[in-house]
Amino acid sequence: MSPNPSSGADDAASSGLRSPRKREALELFRGLPRRYDFLSAALSFGQDPRWRRALVDAVAPAPGARVLDVATGTGMVAAELLARGDCTVVGVDQSAQMLAGARARFAGDGRVELVEGQAERLPFDDESFDALTFTYLLRYVDDPPATLRELARVVKPGGRVASLEFGVPPLPAARVAWRFYTAVGLPVLGRLASREWAEVGRFLGPSIRGYYARHPVQQIAGYWREAGLADVSVRRMSLGGGIVMSATKAAGTGDARGA
Ligand SMILES: C[S@@+](CC[C@H](N)C(=O)[O-])C[C@H]1O[C@@H](n2cnc3c(N)ncnc32)[C@H](O)[C@@H]1O
Repeated sequence: MSPNPSSGADDAASSGLRSPRKREALELFRGLPRRYDFLSAALSFGQDPRWRRALVDAVAPAPGARVLDVATGTGMVAAELLARGDCTVVGVDQSAQMLAGARARFAGDGRVELVEGQAERLPFDDESFDALTFTYLLRYVDDPPATLRELARVVKPGGRVASLEFGVPPLPAARVAWRFYTAVGLPVLGRLASREWAEVGRFLGPSIRGYYARHPVQQIAGYWREAGLADVSVRRMSLGGGIVMSATKAAGTGDARGA
């Protein structure tokens, strides 16, 4: 059962129990919603909308499916899901400010429900969604394997799960270009946009590098399997600058290790 089905907003986000990583995530996204859609595409050289489309392809919601989009932010993935299929979407995010952007986007659209909450403790029952998406989430949580188990918990057996995250290009030449862009280009472009985006420009490169130093891609695929997600696929896009991962919730909950 859900650990806290009645509470949408979470206690940790509103109490003094936040970890430094969570505080940083809450602070970072406070000032971003206004120009988020345009700037997130611009800062990824227009690649990021393409990655989101690949994410939705990987889930391919069936007509009538109920999909949970975790870390929904201003709702860009949720919008892509709705554009693609006859489904309904529940979007969850811990940032009230980012959710306000989503609320403006979906005002009057009965197919979308928006909930303030944490990926680490989803306010939903076990196996209550047909599919689940999450985008740029695991870099912001303290315990990615535990968060993945929590995400998998709410998906029905046989349901699809897909994620999008930035990557570090594996080929040496591309990696040098990526290092230069994230160390110099992103901070400069961020400064040109606004004070809040300047912070994002400085933050992103070290955040992405640090994440994969702590959790190499193949290890992350292992977390998915340990969470009961089978047939894990890792798709590197744009020379590895974006990574779409997807899998299917194994039947008969519990352990899909070795799947
Ligand atoms: C880079 S944005 C991505 C938003 C959206 N999915 C997209 O594709 O544009 C990351 C989002 O994750 C949210 N987030 C970070 N950690 C979270 C957590 N533990 N639980 C819920 N949301 C979280 C942030 O508030 C932010 O809105």
